[in-house]
Amino acid sequence: MKVKEKRMIKSYPGKRTPITNDNFENNLNYRIKKDGVNLKYLLNKTTLLKINLVRLVNFLSNVCLDIHFFIRKRKGFTSVPCLHPFTRLEFVVGGVVRNCCSHHTKVQSVGNIKYKTIEQIWNGKEIIRFRKRLLLGQTKKTCMPNCPRFFSPPNSIREINTNVNEGALLYDDIRTGRVKLIIHPLWFNLANSTVCNLKCTMCGPAYKRGHLNGDIPGYVKKTHENLRRYFDKRITLYLTGNGDPLARKDTRELLQNFDDKKYNKVTFEILTNGLLFQPRMWEKIKHNNYNWVNISIDAATKETFEKIRYGGNWEQLMKALEVFKKAKEEGKFRNVIINMTVMRSNFREIPQFIKMARGMGFKSFLTKIRGKWENENFFESNDVETIQELKTVLANPDIYGDDVHMVELTKYVPQKFRSRLHNFGLTFMHTPYFLMRSNVDSRS
Ligand SMILES: C[S@@+](CC[C@H](N)C(=O)[O-])C[C@H]1O[C@@H](n2cnc3c(N)ncnc32)[C@H](O)[C@@H]1O
Ligand code: SF4
Repeated sequence: MKVKEKRMIKSYPGKRTPITNDNFENNLNYRIKKDGVNLKYLLNKTTLLKINLVRLVNFLSNVCLDIHFFIRKRKGFTSVPCLHPFTRLEFVVGGVVRNCCSHHTKVQSVGNIKYKTIEQIWNGKEIIRFRKRLLLGQTKKTCMPNCPRFFSPPNSIREINTNVNEGALLYDDIRTGRVKLIIHPLWFNLANSTVCNLKCTMCGPAYKRGHLNGDIPGYVKKTHENLRRYFDKRITLYLTGNGDPLARKDTRELLQNFDDKKYNKVTFEILTNGLLFQPRMWEKIKHNNYNWVNISIDAATKETFEKIRYGGNWEQLMKALEVFKKAKEEGKFRNVIINMTVMRSNFREIPQFIKMARGMGFKSFLTKIRGKWENENFFESNDVETIQELKTVLANPDIYGDDVHMVELTKYVPQKFRSRLHNFGLTFMHTPYFLMRSNVDSRS
């Protein structure tokens, strides 16, 4: 009988024998007798067994998901906890593609630009599984409980603006449970570089810079080339970097050379430290269509700003804020939002920060610091005294209004003020503005 040779092991010194069911046991007995138990060999077997078990469990869980989804789909869907896997793609370092921020999702990758095109990733098996779980409401398997999405109710699909073609297609995809979407991605986040002009106290990429080269030029180039195919469609390009968008040559050039007449359905949104938005730069990029801009400042005083935003200069920031203020007054931005990552060094400046934003006609957005960062994170270390002091700072009625969003900090706000905190579209902040009826209505 012909023996099928799959793997070979060394059974006798100098001689190789194929493993078959018949000789496997003899072989093992021989080795145990001769060498004692060959631990490495047994370990390999156990690892293989474990891997196969994990595969089996995954396979069974996917089969269950498919059956559950097939049954549920017949009723149709009227709401979804989050639209991100139906609308957006986020490009991060190393070519990885996700649907949302790494801190808010358990699905850390839906593909890699190294191996696949945007089109393949958009309707690939990972993202389809994510969409199915969301439609079934299985968010525990896909999302972190701290995701700001969970501070608002699920999106009713009636909120989708079906007066635009993209909205109508998306509505129909979701309503019918068509998880292989007809609609193309509508919102792209370019967070695939760590290049930055600052080195902020609490910023992960800033500290990894120098040790880890987050920018793989080939992947970034491939992403940009692939993205161009979408420029004639109605899309939003969200420029964040994982560093700063204007510190990156490629995104600077993209903004400067973008043909806004030819590609007039493309809108930009920007998350930046703002410092490089000086008058000369703004002149070169202001021709584009912008939706909103979010400027991370983290302070209300020069001293705190220059301590946290290491490498930054307060006077330069003030000049940049004037650029944003003027641009907003001219109607170039629907919203200008300034951002504070709340930590030990800045929490006492919250009221002053909000006042500063109001003085310029901007909104304020406050979030909690993540990670340890030299004793800055008093939330994580559960520093009761400082948390109490934060609560006292937040017991100031002048802070509140519909121009302030506090996301996870809401829990430190006195109950009587919570109703005055307004979600100024956070739900849809990362959803293209034209997709939401409320956004379109509020603009008109
Ligand atoms: C990584 S930055 C990239 C965009 C831009 N350079 C900026 O500063 O806004 C994006 C946002 O993450 C915030 N951030 C950085 N480190 C953080 C941390 N440890 N915890 C929470 N937010 C953080 C920044 O304040 C900023 O608002
Ligand atoms: S400006 Fe943004 S990316 Fe740069 S170091 Fe600061 S937080 Fe990080």
